[in-house]
Amino acid sequence: MSPSALNGEAAVGPEGPRQKSKATIETLRVGCIAMVEKNGQARRAEILSIKDTKSGRQFYCNFDNFNKRLDEWVPAKRIDFSYDVEWPNPDKDKQKDGKGKNTTVSKKKAPPSKAQKRPAKREQSVVSETVTPRPWPEPSETQPPSKAPSTPRDLEQKSAGTPAVGGDEMDIDEDEQAPEVKKEVEFSREAEIEKLRTGGSMTQNPTELARIRNISKVQFGEHDLFPWYFSPYPESFTQEDVIFICEFCLSYYGDKKSFTRHRQKCTLQHPPGNEIYRDDYVSFFEIDGRRQRTWCRNLCLISKMFLDHKTLYYDVDPFLFYVMTQKTEKGHHLVGYFSKEKESADGYNVACILTLPQYQRKGFGRLLIQFSYELSKIEGKLGSPEKPLSDLGLLSYRQYWSENIIDLLLELNDRDEKSSIESISTSLAMTTQDVEHTLQALKMQVYHKGEHKLVLPESMIQQREKAKLKKKRYISPENIQWKPPVFTASSRTWGW
Ligand code: ACO
Ligand code: ZN
Repeated sequence: MSPSALNGEAAVGPEGPRQKSKATIETLRVGCIAMVEKNGQARRAEILSIKDTKSGRQFYCNFDNFNKRLDEWVPAKRIDFSYDVEWPNPDKDKQKDGKGKNTTVSKKKAPPSKAQKRPAKREQSVVSETVTPRPWPEPSETQPPSKAPSTPRDLEQKSAGTPAVGGDEMDIDEDEQAPEVKKEVEFSREAEIEKLRTGGSMTQNPTELARIRNISKVQFGEHDLFPWYFSPYPESFTQEDVIFICEFCLSYYGDKKSFTRHRQKCTLQHPPGNEIYRDDYVSFFEIDGRRQRTWCRNLCLISKMFLDHKTLYYDVDPFLFYVMTQKTEKGHHLVGYFSKEKESADGYNVACILTLPQYQRKGFGRLLIQFSYELSKIEGKLGSPEKPLSDLGLLSYRQYWSENIIDLLLELNDRDEKSSIESISTSLAMTTQDVEHTLQALKMQVYHKGEHKLVLPESMIQQREKAKLKKKRYISPENIQWKPPVFTASSRTWGW
């Protein structure tokens, strides 16, 4: 992971002098910088978009030194028109397609990774197919193939305009630039969190940068979700104050009436795959992107609302989705998931990972990450998450890696066993590179009398013991009922 990818300069403001004068609701336009109230304070914010809604005109603001996910639509009453507005510089304006100041990643061109070179294939998906619920446990059973649409349709987006009616569109940039690879040196948690708070977008696709959050609110089961980023739901949905997503089949509705009608008919009560793990807290289901295209695409659409840093591929066929749920009498509720390539040329064991916002910071991300490594252990492979990681992804992975390495070293120490980067890597199914980076970051490697040694400072041991008192949840590997699935080349993707 390149730390440069986190250096998101999210400062708004002119690169040169701009004209300043008073504005009104009517004259304020895209590219202006105004003083806008956020968290009770007037802050500089750039207007990225303007829309007229049922409740009046709204302005989409990117705030000075705030992460892009804190961008928001604000009503005019939050704009302080007593201040001068900085008017957009006409020359700079032309660069607003992403080459402007919001571009936060390094410009160095690197070859696209294999994972990013997947061919572009997309098509429509609106209605979810009906899936027969499967009882626990049937890990070896295969799922019935879903109704595949008869013709693939290339909905490649020519501009950031309206997608095909009832369809979804996704951006694919096959020449997407990979971030500059730099050696990590520092591991300051405070610095990370500060970057996390203030960092800008990590998007590398310039057209994506120009995009703004298009859905304001989602009703999902018992929860209201407030999206962070753009997700390519049909254009008509963006007019709605709230959209409705069925928490089981993940179909989406722009109006409550059709959603209510759907809920009366929908019989799905858990993700459409085999339950491969269960304990008294969570379950995991394995879903094949090829067999459950619509469901998986709908999941990607949800996930895109909270993931900004990756171009989303609409071709879900080459992926398996490991979906974590919590059970109530109503069914298995989606908590989070990770996707995984059926075959990763780069040895990735996770492509995208997400905990739904209402469940974040409760230890579920740790469970998802642990599960991904438990699968790698069963496969007898070393795994690593697909790069680049998001800010939150990096924080979570670093935490997972550090905790597990420290625990393993303590265990080995108790047993008086020697450890090495290789042995840690094999025990934890982590790549040697991830082990080494973590050890470096924790300053646990020393060079002594011509030998590399691993040291565990006393302070770190105490810190870890203290953290353990907090009683975290873990996956019990013995509850995993799973064999690595085998795919023929033709079943990984479409055959045309
Ligand atoms: N601030 C600081 N530390 C954090 C934060 C945060 N907001 N979130 C997670 N961490 C760190 C902490 O060290 C935490 O441990 P602690 O709570 O004991 O201190 C550790 O990560 C694990 O936290 P969890 O509660 O287990 O993680 P969570 O359920 O919140 O999920 C995840 C983490 C999946 C990254 C979530 O934040 C998320 O879905 N974010 C949006 C999508 C995203 O960015 N995904 C990763 C993309 S990278 C990729 O896909 C390969
Ligand atoms: Zn449904």
